Amino acid sequence: MSRPIAAKITGVAGYVPPKVVTNADLEKIVDTSDEWIRTRTGIRERRYAEAGVGSSDLGVEAARKLLAMKNLVANDIDMMIVATVTPDMLFPATACLIQDKLGAKKAWGFDLSAACSGFAYALTVGAQLVAAGSQEKVLVIGSDVMTSILDFRDRATCVLFGDGAGAVLLERSTSDSEGILDFAHDIDGSGGSNLYMPGGGSLQPASAETVAKRMHYVHQEGQQVFKYAVRRQAELACQMLERNGLTSHDLALVVPHQANLRIIRAMQERLGVDDSKVIVNIDRYGNTTGATIPLGLVDAVEQKRVRKGDLVLIVAVGAGYTAGSILMRWAY
Ligand code: ACO
Repeated sequence: MSRPIAAKITGVAGYVPPKVVTNADLEKIVDTSDEWIRTRTGIRERRYAEAGVGSSDLGVEAARKLLAMKNLVANDIDMMIVATVTPDMLFPATACLIQDKLGAKKAWGFDLSAACSGFAYALTVGAQLVAAGSQEKVLVIGSDVMTSILDFRDRATCVLFGDGAGAVLLERSTSDSEGILDFAHDIDGSGGSNLYMPGGGSLQPASAETVAKRMHYVHQEGQQVFKYAVRRQAELACQMLERNGLTSHDLALVVPHQANLRIIRAMQERLGVDDSKVIVNIDRYGNTTGATIPLGLVDAVEQKRVRKGDLVLIVAVGAGYTAGSILMRWAY
């Protein structure tokens, strides 16, 4: 098995906005049904941020909760990496906005854009900086207000997503028996046009035309993304175990990205793990993009489904395509 890379998660916290939107609520907006959404995706409800609430607002709530849990003050934080596809604005980075709202005067940081794999990418980057010894306390935050880019005329996409944020604290690990063990990430850019938001960037800046053509919303070829995610998520999970000489029996918990319950179950079947070892919260939150995995870690801790020394596997696939998996021994 790989030697630990000298970084460990020492705390997790999440924040979801209070407004609950059920499938029945969506039936009033688009031509859909609770039955279709539940059977095709596993989603029962999701949370929506109010107008005027940005990803920085959700992210800072998660960060504040985490600091309080750890008895830390904002000035203890050295850096923060924010995984998001819905930054408050194109610039400044959401990390700057959270740094200011949190009052983390010593911290530097940046945003990382890798869609649904964003949190996993950010965790790997943060862990490397901690392991190198250059940063002591790193906040890795996943935060998205997906409702800000949903087309409520497109029933195939608008029912899938919700808003939320999660944060973890990374610190140095000095023990071989805890912390992040291994990671693998990749990109297959040939899938870029299957899930994207065409308008508002440098290629097609906002104009009356881009608004009229509804280009500032998520566009998705659902079946293409579904097929890729089913295949790649299972492959990544199996490869991570194989290359570390492990089997699924060694795993205490899998924390997958939450895009579709059927994607999760397909991965789980291929891996050979039962429901008790897989975190699922898509029923309550939908796909919160950057926040699904930290919110999953919060569930794992709150539901006492993970203990110090347990092997935990994170796996994600997202727009790009981006993908990644991280293997760790839980540290607390
Ligand atoms: N309510 C009712 N009917 C719907 C809805 C809806 N909300 N959305 C689509 N339909 C209809 C379609 O119009 C279609 O009707 P038709 O047969 O008359 O043409 C029918 O349902 C089947 O549509 P499909 O697209 O074939 O449905 P599918 O079983 O593929 O499910 C879904 C669609 C849920 C989007 C699926 O493809 C999926 O989950 N894809 C992955 C997408 C994803 O999660 N992306 C997010 C980020 S990327 C990531 O995280 C991996």
